[in-house]
Amino acid sequence: LGIFTYDPGFTSTCSTKSAITYIDGDEGVLLYRGYPVEQLAEKSSFIEVCYLTLHGELPSATQLAEFDQSIRRHTMLNESLRKFFDGFNYDAHPMAMMTGVVGSLSAFYHDTTNNKDPKHREIFAHRMIAKIPTIAAAVYKKTVGQPFVYPKNDLDYSSNLLRMMFAVPAEEYEINPVAAKALDVLFILHADHEQNASTSTVRMAGSTGTNPYAAISSGIAALWGPSHGGANEAVLEMLNEIGDVKHVPAFMQKVKDKVEGVRLMGFGHRVYKNFDPRAKIIREQCHKVLKALGKENDPKMELALKLEEIALNDDYFKQRKLYPNVDFYSGIIYEALGIPVNMFTPMFAVGRTVGWCAHWNEMTADSTTRIARPRQVYTGAAVRDYTPVAQR
Ligand code: CMC
Repeated sequence: LGIFTYDPGFTSTCSTKSAITYIDGDEGVLLYRGYPVEQLAEKSSFIEVCYLTLHGELPSATQLAEFDQSIRRHTMLNESLRKFFDGFNYDAHPMAMMTGVVGSLSAFYHDTTNNKDPKHREIFAHRMIAKIPTIAAAVYKKTVGQPFVYPKNDLDYSSNLLRMMFAVPAEEYEINPVAAKALDVLFILHADHEQNASTSTVRMAGSTGTNPYAAISSGIAALWGPSHGGANEAVLEMLNEIGDVKHVPAFMQKVKDKVEGVRLMGFGHRVYKNFDPRAKIIREQCHKVLKALGKENDPKMELALKLEEIALNDDYFKQRKLYPNVDFYSGIIYEALGIPVNMFTPMFAVGRTVGWCAHWNEMTADSTTRIARPRQVYTGAAVRDYTPVAQR
């Protein structure tokens, strides 16, 4: 290997320096800009966390008001961009549409993509954070065949998203504050997670100097996979498949025997080897939200708790240090809010967009950034001479 290190899956490679998020995987610690995620989930708002993630400090009241106002001002989509949705089939996966539509933002908002200009970078981040809920809601409307609902900018971030998803013309839509608060907390918990696969993808694409919306689109594509953000959808599919608590032991046996690669979705993490602090908060939130919505006896929650209890006491999971991750309980909350399973990963994307923007910004502002260009261990044929087709 000479001077190179072979590190498949980057288990021991730091690809960058970053001042945004700190994780201690052994202790189950997660800090955004030094602030414990538990405190932010309890006391802050998603918009404030966006400011913190992007700027590195909590905002003053004036800074927060100005930032909030700027995000509200950028929620609209160009009308031509809306027409892109006509090209998709109604049964397209929402993440397929998200990837395409976010990529197409690069064709509309290229007036502020001088990556060297901090003002341009700031406008990009505000546009991206503001438009991602509008896009996610439009994607949902496309899947159910309803007309798009425009943003209503006197509403807070999460309420606006709920309204754009669930309001229908000619009917009053009343926002449930419990649902809006639950969504806000979930977005805080998903805001950033250092060099995860999608953020690393955004950084890698961004390191070439490409259009930043195109870089975010590549992050959305990476998030879609079931090993990453797609796990929240996979967890609900798994719970549906198990169906009843009485089928749990047989399912767990399949997981432990690795039958057809079946895994306990929503369990395990590359970095957390003790517990995922986000999962703890989400489990508490789950109880709170289900109670507030009068859904305490949700059978999926019962099933998830049973799976967790069995897994935490089983040698297979203990030896491999597998604990519930952020995706294990989030789907139960989404489902309680009326969000369909195929929209779970788009919800993750809405929350994570600020993290992607912050990392892109940090990398782009750093004059020492070089193009990301890993090497490989070549395993192909040795040099040989070409033979004309007639002689083969
Ligand atoms: N169920 C059963 N076995 C598992 C699981 C699981 N969920 N996760 C890991 N293992 C086993 C795996 O088979 C391996 O066993 P062995 O040592 O016998 O070969 C061992 O644990 C180590 O697993 P790994 O795949 O080498 O670990 P990794 O760090 O490469 O992968 C992971 C991490 C999150 C992809 C993996 O734990 C997994 O596939 N989990 C299920 C999918 C999931 O919930 N993903 C969401 C991750 S958190 C949020 C996010 O990133 O979006």
